[in-house]
Amino acid sequence: MILVFGSLNLDLVAEVPIIPGPGRTVLAPSYQTHFGGKGANQAVAAARIAGPKRVRMVGRVGRDGFGDSAIENLRANGVDADLVIRTDEPTGCAFITVDQAGENAITVASGANMTASAGDLAAELLHSGIVLVLQMEVPFAQALEAARRAASASGTVIWNLAPVPDKMTREMVTALLAVTDYLLVNEHEALDAAAAIGLAFADYEAAAAGLARAGNLTCIVTAGAQGALAVTADGTRQRAPAPRITPVDTTGAGDTFVGAFAAMLGEGMSLQRALEVSCEAAALKCLKAGAQTGMPMRSAIGSLA
Ligand code: RIB
Repeated sequence: MILVFGSLNLDLVAEVPIIPGPGRTVLAPSYQTHFGGKGANQAVAAARIAGPKRVRMVGRVGRDGFGDSAIENLRANGVDADLVIRTDEPTGCAFITVDQAGENAITVASGANMTASAGDLAAELLHSGIVLVLQMEVPFAQALEAARRAASASGTVIWNLAPVPDKMTREMVTALLAVTDYLLVNEHEALDAAAAIGLAFADYEAAAAGLARAGNLTCIVTAGAQGALAVTADGTRQRAPAPRITPVDTTGAGDTFVGAFAAMLGEGMSLQRALEVSCEAAALKCLKAGAQTGMPMRSAIGSLA
């Protein structure tokens, strides 16, 4: 069973000619509403590959229409949403601009996500057969507590260090590394995490190796068109290429990678195969607008055929 402890958002997305900088306004013809939140995205990506009833989401939404739809959407995608709890805070909402190259800028109004509690994970859910998936859009202390409990129950912990918080301390990263089996980051997150624990590197590969050694874990870096790199604690490298595509929207590509990777780990697939499948899934996602819309079903992934 894959357990995702994390955020659920509604994404309001505008396609813009250029992502505005401070003090700038741009006009977009319209906007679209999509389901999002890194936690929910990763749960949906995993469920589309692993199949129904293999993924459970743990998180919080508001007592509002966005919350209703976010829960319905999870269920429609085969995710068990019984542990998504309603609170008085509004459902999280992300304001996203996507430019003509498919790149994005995102502001998240966290709302109910900041009430998420590790206490929502009942002890009987945590055992050696689970893969717990975490990100950085719920309170760090709660995610850490969830990871500690999963680790002490001999579960597998995947931590996607995204988005990197403004104030990421040495203590936070040290604590996170101590309970994580697979740290999933992009190039910038790898360098930021390494810097937070006093390791200065010029490139993400060296940063990944430093993090893997420091945490005695496997660090996986997603590097867009350059594919993915995994470095194990002993410094062994494995790589997978990214299929060549012309992206329409990269929003949720990282989440698709994480969800696919969790699904593959849950099936006991080798690290190399998990990297290849996850790279393909993330590339396929980028062919459609919206975080979850393009997330592939298992049958669409050629490297799983
Ligand atoms: O990773 C993409 C996600 O980040 C979006 O769906 C948005 O909700 C933000 O959480």
